[in-house]
Amino acid sequence: MLGRLNHVALAVPDLAVAVAAYRNTLGAEVTEPQALPEHGVTVVFVNVGNTKIELLEPLGEGSPIAAFLEKNPSGGMHHLCYEVDDILAARDQLKAAGARVLGDGNPKTGAHGKPVLFLHPKDFFGTLIELEQS
Ligand code: CO
Repeated sequence: MLGRLNHVALAVPDLAVAVAAYRNTLGAEVTEPQALPEHGVTVVFVNVGNTKIELLEPLGEGSPIAAFLEKNPSGGMHHLCYEVDDILAARDQLKAAGARVLGDGNPKTGAHGKPVLFLHPKDFFGTLIELEQS
């Protein structure tokens, strides 16, 4: 079911500071910020060749990463995103195996304009998993 690692996501308290660190200190290629109100975050992607790093900053009230940043004020690894060929088939297979899909169980449109789902971190060793249809 699992395809390639699409990205590793880091939650950061200040996106401009994080972008400057990746662009200027680490010398990486960073995309322009993209607001995703439906997900409560603003994102950029850092291109590192074999995968991407997603930097997430809270957007609006009740952002899903606000509680994470309260526990990790300087930021930290938030989720891993794996590609799947067919997100609905993957969801049904995971649910049948007892894994919990977050939200209402229906895919939302992610940062790349493709359907995404999130899996409960307690089912996967403390790591939040995002699935993106490739
Ligand atoms: Co992501």
